Amino acid sequence: MKNILVITASIFGQDGQSSQLVKHTLDQLRETHGEIRTTYRDLAAEPVPHLDASRFGAFITGADDRDGHQQQVVDYSDSLIQEIKDADAIVMGVPMYNFGIPSGLKAYFDHIARSGVTFRYTENGPVGLLEDRPVYVLAARGGIYAGTPNDSQTPYIRSFLGFLGLTDLHFVYAEGLNMGDEKKESALQEAGRTIETLTA
Ligand SMILES: Cc1cc2nc3c(=O)[nH]c(=O)nc-3n(C[C@H](O)[C@H](O)[C@H](O)COP(=O)(O)O)c2cc1C
Repeated sequence: MKNILVITASIFGQDGQSSQLVKHTLDQLRETHGEIRTTYRDLAAEPVPHLDASRFGAFITGADDRDGHQQQVVDYSDSLIQEIKDADAIVMGVPMYNFGIPSGLKAYFDHIARSGVTFRYTENGPVGLLEDRPVYVLAARGGIYAGTPNDSQTPYIRSFLGFLGLTDLHFVYAEGLNMGDEKKESALQEAGRTIETLTA
């Protein structure tokens, strides 16, 4: 494990709890695997634009027919996808905001879902075109949702990344972070231990 793509989305930047869990995961991976190379994709600091008809239009326009702007949009999306292809593993911080994933992460997902590039449809249904690799998902939440129908994130991320071919997912939850200091402290410690076990 050498190249790690690090995706963060906390509006609090590196102070965010999900970003802190990402940091702990990277520290543990270093301890286990030695030197690692990291590529950072901070979706809060450098937001991916929202998908609109013009950008989607660029995705579905053939290479020979694209104008300059469309080519730029495709090049940008291609570069995001290339970061994934270059990664031996992905470490992703996922805060819960208003019962969902951060909008910045959704915009990123909208730019890596490309027909014929990261997925294709066949007679037997969709096929993901990304080679599988471990994805560590560090989820930080004010309340408690894991394993309940209110956990909108886990099934969604599983479905979405699975659609692209990424199925080796490892979820770590730090929950109840807004439920008092004691609960917060124990949740962070437990998440830390889970990370240590997962990366050992
Ligand atoms: C705008 C906003 C919306 C939030 N919505 C929820 C929510 O719907 N459910 C929840 O459990 N926690 C919610 N929280 C609490 C966050 O999940 C919690 O603060 C977590 O640490 C966020 O991750 P981060 O610190 O990496 O940004 C919200 C926090 C913010 C700032």
